Formats: sequence, C-alpha cells, structure tokens
Amino acid sequence: MDIKIDDLKILFTEDEIQNKIKDIASKLNEFYKGEEVYAICVLKGAVMFAVDLVKHLDMPLKMEFIRLSSYGTAFSTSGKVNAVDISLPDLNDKNVLIIEDIIDTGLTAKFLMDFMHCNFKTKSTKFCSLLDKKVCRKTEIEPDYFGFEIDEKFVVGYGLDYEGYYRNLRYIGYVEAK
Ligand code: IMP
Ligand code: MG
Repeated sequence: MDIKIDDLKILFTEDEIQNKIKDIASKLNEFYKGEEVYAICVLKGAVMFAVDLVKHLDMPLKMEFIRLSSYGTAFSTSGKVNAVDISLPDLNDKNVLIIEDIIDTGLTAKFLMDFMHCNFKTKSTKFCSLLDKKVCRKTEIEPDYFGFEIDEKFVVGYGLDYEGYYRNLRYIGYVEAK
C-alpha cells in the first residue's frame, strides 16, 4: 500500500496536539518542581513533539538527541532496535526524561530504559511518549507520561513518517483500511 496525502484522515488536529502537550508539560513541571532535567529526544520521529514540549517546561533543562531506528518495513517493526547514534553526556545523578513519538511494540522503549539502567545511575528516568498503541505491546513497558492512546492504526504526521514522508504535517493522520 502507498499512502497518498488525500487519503489521510485526521486523527488529532494541530490544536488537539498542542493542548495535549500543554497538559503533559504541566504534569512534568509539577513532578520536577524546578529541578534540572535532561530531555532526550529520540530522533527522528519525536523531533516535533520534543521541540514543542520543552517550550512549555519551566525547569533548567538541557536537550540531547539520540537516533534509533526499528522500522523494518514501512508498516511493521523489524523486532530489532538499531542504535544509529546514542552518544550521551554523563547522566549519573541527573533527571532524565526520554521523549518519544509513539510506543508500538515497546521494544524501543525497553531498549532505551535498559540502556539507561546499564550505563548510568540516574536520579530519575521517565519515559514520555505522545502516542501509545497499547494493543500492540510485546513488552511490559508503560510510559510514565503519554498524550493519546490509539488503536492499531498506522499514523503519520507531526514527526511520524511513512517511508520518510509526512513528518512535516502539523496534524496526525491515518489511512482507513479498505
Ligand atoms: P516500537 O519499538 O515497536 O515500540 O516502535 C517504536 C517506533 O516505531 C516509533 O518510535 C516509531 O518511529 C515507529 N512507529 C510505530 N508505529 C508507527 C506508526 O503508526 N507510524 C509511524 N511510525 C511508527
Ligand atoms: Mg520513533
């Protein structure tokens, strides 16, 4: 299947996304209470979400970017997580907030949480994902913060891609199964 822009149905509008981000940010502001945070954006998918989210965070904050890939084909997870670039500063004793676009099988999230635990003794490690496809989970991982729970749909837009395209959409769309 090929995804055409005209076939996309809107799942979440720009306003819905931005309002949800403000909700998540206010929970994070409350949780961290002004303590310094290292916000780790998982490229490429989480770029839009991370950039918009941190604008509403009011504690001292540093942004880091790591790049992982897990998608074997356009629509299904390969089952393997590929660490394309995972260079990070010393995160011992730091509050770490991992920012993802979507949790699907949970393999990427599990890989990242294990990576943190194996490499650092952080003060805290929290996982925040804009979308959560809980029905697709193959691991026991749960995000500490998430925006929207969605069912088994392939979604694009707002950072999420189909073969590299549609990341630039301001909304999140999906294609209805025919
Ligand atoms: P997981 O390791 O199976 O949880 O997959 C997570 C990664 O797969 C996400 O970070 C996305 O990059 C990608 N992914 C999962 N579902 C979708 C989708 O519906 N659209 C686009 N990318 C997706
Ligand atoms: Mg991703």
